[in-house]
Amino acid sequence: MIRDDGWARHCIWEHSRTVHELYRRRCRREAEEMTAHAQAAELLLDRVVVGDTLLDAGCGSGYFYHSLVARNVPAQYWGFDAAPSLVEIGRAEMPAFGLPAERLQTMRLEDVDGEFDHVVCINVLSNIDNYHRPLERLLRMARKTVILRESLTDGASYSYVRDDYLDEGVELNVHVNHYDRAEITEFIRRYEFTPQFIEDRRSGGRPELVIGYPHHWAFVLAERI
Ligand SMILES: C[S@@+](CC[C@H](N)C(=O)[O-])C[C@H]1O[C@@H](n2cnc3c(N)ncnc32)[C@H](O)[C@@H]1O
Repeated sequence: MIRDDGWARHCIWEHSRTVHELYRRRCRREAEEMTAHAQAAELLLDRVVVGDTLLDAGCGSGYFYHSLVARNVPAQYWGFDAAPSLVEIGRAEMPAFGLPAERLQTMRLEDVDGEFDHVVCINVLSNIDNYHRPLERLLRMARKTVILRESLTDGASYSYVRDDYLDEGVELNVHVNHYDRAEITEFIRRYEFTPQFIEDRRSGGRPELVIGYPHHWAFVLAERI
């Protein structure tokens, strides 16, 4: 028997009630704003002009929209995520705050295309198998800026680990990758952007445990030459 539901069945983000509840509370503004989202919105503040479009790649349920609105960043927000259940949460909750449901799409990095002034991708690429193809897509889609927040180190390392924080009985693995700063710099330059590393405010440059594994968070602000 062949099936086509393998991606969702094996996706950790489809199998955590805790994450679903947290993302719903973030959409409802009942949970604290993520420091990373605050920092990304501040980076955008001086760079977004009225009418600019912004794509949030791997948006979860689209609550980064709140961080933009709270700071009067005048971007037209679009978000997509591969996990249908997370997008459904955003589509149900975000219209009450002014974001039309169709601005949130279920889509994978592998499938997305389009043109946006700004693209952000926060806490996504470190947890997928590699960054080259998806980051190339994001850089090609962005007219002005790409902002990433990922686990970056001097020297890359890749691991595929059990996520022990999922719903009972679910046994799934996820990538926890740390990408090489020099390599990602060189890669971004090839697409005619100037990358700049910015210290992550939340972790202050120190490793942070996520699902029990250290992540070395840093921001990359890439501006088109
Ligand atoms: C750690 S969450 C981060 C969510 C959100 N960016 C945030 O900052 O809260 C990682 C997200 O990446 C999404 N994701 C994983 N692989 C993806 C892919 N291939 N295409 C699009 N989204 C993906 C997951 O569904 C999940 O919502």
